[in-house]
Amino acid sequence: MFKKLAIGAAFALALAPVASHAAGGGEQHIEDFAFSFEGPFGTYDQNQLQRGLQVYTEVCAACHGLKLVPLRTLGDEGGPHLPEDQVRAYAAQNFEVFDAELDDFRPAKPVDHFPENTAAGAPDLSLMAKARAGFHGPYGLGLNQLFKGMGGAEYIASLMVGYTGEEKEEAGTIFYENTAFPGGWISMAPPIADEQVEFADGHANDLHHLAEDVSAFLMWTAEPKMMARKQAGFVGVLFLAILSCMLYLTNKRLWAPVKGKKTA
Ligand code: HEC
Repeated sequence: MFKKLAIGAAFALALAPVASHAAGGGEQHIEDFAFSFEGPFGTYDQNQLQRGLQVYTEVCAACHGLKLVPLRTLGDEGGPHLPEDQVRAYAAQNFEVFDAELDDFRPAKPVDHFPENTAAGAPDLSLMAKARAGFHGPYGLGLNQLFKGMGGAEYIASLMVGYTGEEKEEAGTIFYENTAFPGGWISMAPPIADEQVEFADGHANDLHHLAEDVSAFLMWTAEPKMMARKQAGFVGVLFLAILSCMLYLTNKRLWAPVKGKKTA
């Protein structure tokens, strides 16, 4: 009896912090989006990354920087894969950087990074999709990440579509209720709405699609080499599997005379 009680108490203690986190942190609702890059063989969808880049440029860049991302990587295979002349034109048309040599601003070049942007007090988005990758799902244990592949891209997309329309003002700052944001209230106004960005190819541009596209793009900025990493991992596993088979057969063969004698 006492033993049972002791075990029960130990269990309750172990679970207490988890339970209080779930209750106190405000229920975070992260939606499961089906991204092309999920799973062991998932790859980025080049067209989606290009649309996401457009959403970032036309909307998010007003407040958020991407200071860790070199503009030239927009031409990389496995990424948005823009032709070289388009990368050059994109950089020059959209951004200005401070050149210490000229002691002045000049249009950005592919060798430059996306500028940082601290004017609105918004965080840099370069690595946001990785920074917010985990610990969603029941009790914040990251189970949804493990079983459904729900990571940072899902968090960002859920944040975009998670506004309830409620607002409140606290100490002169307006907060917007958001079901994905920890705590439930964020100081970023809903950044995108239906049809806010028009795509040249007429691709769907309702809020849900725009959210998905920009989140896929931000996953790429945070992890541009995801495809190479998955490929290397797969080759590694394959190599180990073949090596295991060969070692097993070698082992069998080496011991065959000894073992053979025993049974004879
Ligand atoms: C008008 C300025 C503004 C625009 C435009 C804007 N944001 Fe924000 N964003 C903010 C501010 C300010 C914060 C910090 C909010 C806070 O912590 O309460 C923020 C925070 C974030 C966060 C971090 C949330 C977290 O978990 O800490 C993400 C992700 C984000 N924004 C994504 C975007 C995306 C994607 C876009 C474009 C579709 C965008 N933002 C457009 C101002 C902006």
